[in-house]
Amino acid sequence: MSTTNQTRNWTPESWKTHPVQQLPDYPDNQEIQRVYSELKSYPPLITSWEVEALKDNMRKASEGKAFIMQGGDCAETFTNCSAPQIVNQLKVLLQMSFILIHELNVPVVRVGRFAGQYAKPRSSSTERVGDLELPTYRGDLINGFQKDEEVRQPDPSRLLEGYQKSAMTLNFVRALTEGGGFADLHHPEFWELDFMRNNRYYEEYATMVNSIRHALKFVDSISDGSLSTLKQVYIYTSHEALNLHYDSAQTRKVPHKSGWYNLSTHLPWLGNRTRNLDGAHVEYFRGIENPVGVKVGPPFESDEIVDLIKNLNPSNDAGKVMLITRMGRKNIEERLPELIEAVKSAGLNVVWSCDPMHGNTFATDEGIKTRDFDDILEELKLAFQIHNKMGTYLGGAHLELTGDNVTECVGGARGLNADKLKENYQTYCDPRLNYQQSLEMAFLIARQWKENFSRQRSYGAQPAI
Ligand code: PEP
Ligand code: CO
Repeated sequence: MSTTNQTRNWTPESWKTHPVQQLPDYPDNQEIQRVYSELKSYPPLITSWEVEALKDNMRKASEGKAFIMQGGDCAETFTNCSAPQIVNQLKVLLQMSFILIHELNVPVVRVGRFAGQYAKPRSSSTERVGDLELPTYRGDLINGFQKDEEVRQPDPSRLLEGYQKSAMTLNFVRALTEGGGFADLHHPEFWELDFMRNNRYYEEYATMVNSIRHALKFVDSISDGSLSTLKQVYIYTSHEALNLHYDSAQTRKVPHKSGWYNLSTHLPWLGNRTRNLDGAHVEYFRGIENPVGVKVGPPFESDEIVDLIKNLNPSNDAGKVMLITRMGRKNIEERLPELIEAVKSAGLNVVWSCDPMHGNTFATDEGIKTRDFDDILEELKLAFQIHNKMGTYLGGAHLELTGDNVTECVGGARGLNADKLKENYQTYCDPRLNYQQSLEMAFLIARQWKENFSRQRSYGAQPAI
C-alpha cells in the first residue's frame, strides 16, 4: 500500500530533527557516522515479502481469526548469542504455539523478541555504585553491563556487533525451523509435563496433551508421517526500535514496491517511554511500511493514543498497528475499557495484544526485581474478559520468557518463592518466565481463549503450523 501522504517530508533520518528520548548522544560524531554508513551498506536481515506476510496475519488477528504469540528475552545480550540459548528459546516458543494452535483452533503467529532486542529504555539515566554515579546500562546495542565508567559510555561499534549477532541468531533460527526436524512434534520430550503434577489444572493439561498426540497419530496415518507442515514452522522477529541509528541504517527501499521497509526486523515496536507524538521515535515509525507494535501503559491519555494511531496508520489498515497494552493488574480494569472505547469510537482498526509483564514488576524486600506469576496471569485473564465484554478481540500476548530454568518470577506450578530467586537469576534487565512457567502460561491462555471467545463463533479455520 502506498504511503505517499504518510511519508511526506519523511526520510529514514528525519527523526534526527526531533527531540530524542532514551538514546544518549554518542561523544564521537565522526565515529557514529562511519558506523552508520557501514551498517547501511550491509545486506538486510529479512525481506519485504516476509513483512507483508506478517501484515496479512495481523489483519486476521484484528478480527480474532489468528493469535499473535510474541515472546523472548527482555534484553538479549551479545554473550548469550549461543546455540543452547537459541535452541531453548525456540523450543519454548514452539511448544507454547503448538498448545495454542491445538486449543484455539485459529492460526497462531509466532513472533520472537530476538535477533535485535539489544536496546533498553531505562527509568533513570544514572546508577549509584558505591561512591560512583555511573551511566545506566542501556542494552548491549548501546553500552556494556559491567559497572565501569568506560564500559558504560555509548559505543558506536556496538551497532555493528548487534547486526552481526542478530544475523547469527536469525541464521540459526531459520536453519532450525526450515531444515525440518527441530519442530517435529513427535519428539516425546516436547510433552513432558511431570513438573505440573501438583498443579490444580494437571488433569486438564494431560487431556490436552493426549488429544494433541492423537491428532498427530491421525495425521501420520493419513500421510505416512511425511506431512511437511508438521516439521516446518515460520517464526517472525521483533525488537523495540529504540536505537534509531540501528533501525534507520537498515531502513531500505526495495524493487517493485513503494515505501521504506525496516529490514532489520519484521515487527519493530515503539516503547511506552518513547511514544510522544513530537518525538524522534514516532517520527521514525510513521514512515516505515512494517507493521508496528505500540506499548501502551500508564501514564497515558486515550486521546493521545488515538492521535498516535492516526499518525502511524493514516490509511487505517487493520494489519498495521498492534496496541500492546501493559496496564498492570491493578490498573487494567480502570484503564483498558476507556482506551478500547476511544479507539472504537474513532473507528480505528488495530490488533489488540496484552503484555502482562511490564505493569507488574516489583522489588522484593531484598531489592530483587521480580514479577508474580499470578499477577501476570490475572492481567491476561482480565484482558480477555474486558475485550470479550466490549466486543473486541484480544489478538495476541506479549511475554518476557526464556527456555532456560531461571528463577526470576515468583509463583507458577512449582511455587517458586522469593527466597529461591537468587538460585539462578540471570536477566540483565527484567525478570522472565522460565521454561515451566511459560508452558503453564500457554495452557492458561488457551483456557481463557476458550472461555471467552470460542463459544461465540466457529471459523473452521485451518490452524497454520
Ligand atoms: C520492554 O518490552 O522490555 C519494555 C521496556 O517495555 P515498555 O516499553 O512497555 O516499558
Ligand atoms: Co522488559
